[in-house]
Amino acid sequence: MFKLLSTLALAAAVSYAQNSTVSDTDLAGLEANFANAQLVPQFLSTFNPQGILVVEYNNEAITIGQNLSQDVVSSFPSILYSPGPEADTPSASDLFTIFLADANPVGTDESTTLQTRHWLVNSASLTIGDSAPYAINYANATSITDYAGPGPAAGSGAHRYVFLMYAQDSTFTAPANLSTPGTALGTWSVSDYLQETGLSNLIAANYMQVENGVATVSVAATTAVDSATLAAASTTSGSGSASTSGSGSASTSAGASQTSAATTSGASAAASSTGAAHATKHELGWGIVIGAVGITGAVLGAGLGF
Ligand SMILES: *[C@@H]1O[C@H](CO)[C@@H](O)[C@H](O)[C@H]1NC(C)=O
Ligand SMILES: *[C@@H]1O[C@H](CO)[C@@H](O)[C@H](O)[C@H]1NC(C)=O
Ligand SMILES: *[C@@H]1O[C@H](CO)[C@@H](O)[C@H](O)[C@H]1NC(C)=O
Ligand SMILES: *[C@@H]1O[C@H](CO)[C@@H](O)[C@H](O)[C@H]1NC(C)=O
Repeated sequence: MFKLLSTLALAAAVSYAQNSTVSDTDLAGLEANFANAQLVPQFLSTFNPQGILVVEYNNEAITIGQNLSQDVVSSFPSILYSPGPEADTPSASDLFTIFLADANPVGTDESTTLQTRHWLVNSASLTIGDSAPYAINYANATSITDYAGPGPAAGSGAHRYVFLMYAQDSTFTAPANLSTPGTALGTWSVSDYLQETGLSNLIAANYMQVENGVATVSVAATTAVDSATLAAASTTSGSGSASTSGSGSASTSAGASQTSAATTSGASAAASSTGAAHATKHELGWGIVIGAVGITGAVLGAGLGF
C-alpha cells in the first residue's frame, strides 16, 4: 500500500534523520504545500509552524500531503516533533494540544464547512531525549477524542487530513463541550476551537490525503495561491527552482462558489498565479511543490473554464 511513496518529490527533500532538526527549507516546503493545497489561508488563516510533525504509520513517516489508503491510516500512528532552526527549545514540562482534522477536499469553502475531528488530545508532552525528533508523550495527556482513522465517503474525492500541534499555555481550558475524555468523533469548527481556547502558537504540522474510490463529484473551481504567502515562505528557502513548467493559471473570482472539490484527475492541485508571481514561485522551488501535490492540466483547465 505504499505504492505512492515514490510520487512525492518532497520526500527526498525532507530528512528526518535522528538528531537533525528540520531546516528552514523544509519549513518553507511545508508552508508552500499547505498554501498550495489551499489549507492556508482557507482552513488556517495564518500558518507559521516552528517545526514538522513526523507522523509514522507502520514505521514509515508520511511525506507532506501524501496519498495514503484507508487501511494504512486505520491505526494510531506514532508521532514525533522535529523542530526547525528557530524553534523554542523544547522542555519536558511543555504541554501541547494535538489533533487530526478532516479539512475536506480541496476547494471546499472552509469558512462555511465544519471539519471532522478524528483525534484530539490536550496536555500531551514531549519525551526530551538526547536528540530530535522528540516523541509525543501521552502519560498525563487527556484524550478528548480517541484516534479514529480517516473514512471519507466513497466518491467524495481526496480529503485533506491535517495534524496540528499547538503549545498550551498555563491558562488553557478545554471548552465545556470538548472537555470529556472519550468524546466521539464528530464535526467541529477548528477555527472556533482555536479561538475559544486561545491556542495560537503553532508548534508543528503535517497533512496527508485519503480517498475512497474514484471521485464522482465534479471538479470545483480553485483559487489562486496567495502570492503573499509564498513570498513569506520563500524568504527562508534556500533551494533553487526546479522549473515552473506544468504550472499555469487558475483562479476564480472571489465570489465563486466552491462546494465539494474533488476531481477524478487531480483534486489536490492548487492553482498558481501568473505574471509577477512567477519570480516568487521560482524561488520556492515550485517544481518540488508541484511534484508534491500533483497539479494536473485537467484541474487547471477546470479552474480557468468559468
Ligand atoms: C544531538 O544534538 C544535541 C544538540 O546539538 C547534542 O547535545 C546531543 O549530544 C546530540 N545527540 C546525539 C545522540 O548525537
Ligand atoms: C505525569 O505526572 C506525574 C505526576 O505529577 C509526574 O511525576 C510525571 O513526571 C508526569 N509525566 C509527564 C510525562 O509529564
Ligand atoms: C462547542 O460549543 C461552541 C460554543 O461554545 C460551539 O461553537 C462549538 O461548535 C461546539 N463544539 C462542538 C464540537 O459541538
Ligand atoms: C493524490 O490523489 C489524487 C486523487 O486520486 C491524485 O489526483 C493526485 O495526483 C495524488 N497526488 C499524489 C502526490 O500522488
